[in-house]
Amino acid sequence: MKLAVIGGTGALEMFRKLRSTAMTTPFGAPSDRPRQVDVGGSEVWFLARHGDPHRIPPHKINYRANIHALKVLGVDSVLAINAVGGLVPGLSAGTMVAPDQLIDYTWGRAHTFSDGGSAPLRHIDFTHPFDGPLRERLLVAAGRAGHEVVDGGCHAVTQGPRLETAAEVSRLAADGCDLVGMTAMPEAALAREAGLDYASLCVVANAGAGLEDGPITEDDIHRVLQAAMRNVKDVIVALAGSDPGN
Ligand code: HPA
Repeated sequence: MKLAVIGGTGALEMFRKLRSTAMTTPFGAPSDRPRQVDVGGSEVWFLARHGDPHRIPPHKINYRANIHALKVLGVDSVLAINAVGGLVPGLSAGTMVAPDQLIDYTWGRAHTFSDGGSAPLRHIDFTHPFDGPLRERLLVAAGRAGHEVVDGGCHAVTQGPRLETAAEVSRLAADGCDLVGMTAMPEAALAREAGLDYASLCVVANAGAGLEDGPITEDDIHRVLQAAMRNVKDVIVALAGSDPGN
């Protein structure tokens, strides 16, 4: 397994940097220089999805450049770290989830490599948007690291950068979604088009809008995510160490 982690800049600081490489792609520049980091003795590529410093909003991320850059670097497996809101009881702040389904509510994003240019037109199978074996390894690794990761859930991907209205949250829950975030699409579909195995580790930062009293503050989200990063790090270390070929 040649693993890459796509995550927030907070996740990057957890690991020792070995090298970074400035890259450009036919789709433009990735969000940041991909950096190779030392994850418990394994070399893992890391890409800061929102740039470094954290500045690129979800709808402006160059998902195609990011996935293309990782492909060129020889990556075959991508672990996405996603901050999400919880839509169902039981997914309290700080809970980690490995979703097994998603619904795409985003619009206007460059969402495919099959864009009528020189690339062949492909209709990829996306029945199961997250790679089964990689999800399984993620769950096993989490168990080995002593952390609970909820197995499965449907991830709603919204446009952002604003959070949802209470009515939108009700609709997402009625649609069968358990989590809501802003960045899993088109990232997951592009990874599938590029032939990369892709799984997501979601961190619940807050209850969905309207599910609890009061507004959702950015400070609260930030605080929860900061605290959860230690657990995320443990899981990444266990996953990277789970393959002798990594
Ligand atoms: N909605 C969408 N994305 C999010 C949320 C949310 O409530 N919390 C963290 N990322």
